[in-house]
Amino acid sequence: MGIFGHVKAIPTGDQEHETHALRKTLSWPHLVALGVGAIVGTGIYTLTGVGADRAGPAVILSFGIAGLVCACAALAYAEMATLIRTAGGAYTYTFSVLGESLAWIVGWSLILEYSLACSTVAVGWGAYLVGWLTAAGVSLPASLIAGPTDGGIVNLPAVLVSLAVAAMLAGGTRESALVNIVLVAIKLVALVVFVAIAFPAFNPSNFEPFMPYGFVSEVQDGKARGVMAAAAIVFFAFYGFDAVATSAEEAKNPARDLKIGILGSMLVCTVIYILVAIAAVGSVGYLGLAGSDEPLAHVLRVLEQPFAATAIALAALIALPSVILVMMYGQSRIFFVMARDGLLPASLAKVSPRTGTPVRITIVTGIFIALVAGFFRLESIAALANAGTLLAFIATALCMIVLRRTRPDLERVFACPAPLLIGGFAIIGCLYLLFSLPYSTLTNFVAWNALGIVAYIAIRLARRSRSDGA
Ligand code: ALA
Repeated sequence: MGIFGHVKAIPTGDQEHETHALRKTLSWPHLVALGVGAIVGTGIYTLTGVGADRAGPAVILSFGIAGLVCACAALAYAEMATLIRTAGGAYTYTFSVLGESLAWIVGWSLILEYSLACSTVAVGWGAYLVGWLTAAGVSLPASLIAGPTDGGIVNLPAVLVSLAVAAMLAGGTRESALVNIVLVAIKLVALVVFVAIAFPAFNPSNFEPFMPYGFVSEVQDGKARGVMAAAAIVFFAFYGFDAVATSAEEAKNPARDLKIGILGSMLVCTVIYILVAIAAVGSVGYLGLAGSDEPLAHVLRVLEQPFAATAIALAALIALPSVILVMMYGQSRIFFVMARDGLLPASLAKVSPRTGTPVRITIVTGIFIALVAGFFRLESIAALANAGTLLAFIATALCMIVLRRTRPDLERVFACPAPLLIGGFAIIGCLYLLFSLPYSTLTNFVAWNALGIVAYIAIRLARRSRSDGA
């Protein structure tokens, strides 16, 4: 029992191998593809516009900073994922290293990461659908394509895509490796075509002034602005790499393949993101980009390329739901593990014998995601999702550093290079990004955690009264 409650035992190598006997079929190119598939989504397709609004042309620097912090967090994540191979990610690592109560807080934050990321992607998808339909001459009622904070009643496309993906997941849908490769190709080709079309219209004067809102996050014109404020938002574009870290067991040579897989997918994404941002800002200027809900298609329309605009919107429409699928799956697994640990009602984690999926938890998650997507603004949801994710990354890096000291004996299939430096940089970088988020996000994050602590106390009291009664 630690000061933060009891800790879960870390399974030893032998126990692990008894329960996990996955075949080692993946090599680093597969892992890079897996990572890129899970990472590229609404972050680049939509939040580039929000980032440009926050930082001006220096949004390219924001992408670089967020990518670097994520790469360090990802290395820590890879060490932990290969060491503690049971599901649950940062929640499970914290339970095994720091104790139950901190694990609860991390699990509570992961709800923000996974669920709100789904809502964010759903809202981004909805904007591309509306833009695409409008270009095709079909217009939907304004009150049904935006939530109350954007002057409408409900964002129906975002609600519908969330519920559709939840239904698919409850029915047992998994994305196959082949589908993943096709979607990765669609997403990447669309971005490369975007860069190829936008670059010839590049005008260096669009980069002046480069940093109109400065570097640090500061409230200007009622919004948190500056390079770091944008980095804290476009950070969203990078997560999803857990997909690579958790596939460690299936890697042929985990020590080499994971390092290349994680750093490779981060590098590919960072380079592509920076190129897309340079092309977008360089061609139409950051002010032209800032106001749009579907910035990449908008840039192409401004450049009088309606066909390419339609094609890139179509690519987003086809590929983004897969990001929702992966994140929603991750959320249902985390709830499942928390219920198994007795921190959520066991009835929620019941697996349907017909589909082999936790149907109840998937439906509850899907409805929650749909409601958030239907009624809230994209950038507020993304910012809160980022706050939850940053806390989970900090916890993971901290667990890695602590476990190096407390359990140096454990065999590490993948050892993070220079753990104190990389882990320390991940923690400090994530903290800096966290405090660069808008003030309203930070207060909502504190309120969310306060609610979580109340829920935890209620669970502990209920548990005690049950054991007293027994
Ligand atoms: N990184 C993912 C995206 O940008 C969550 O959609």
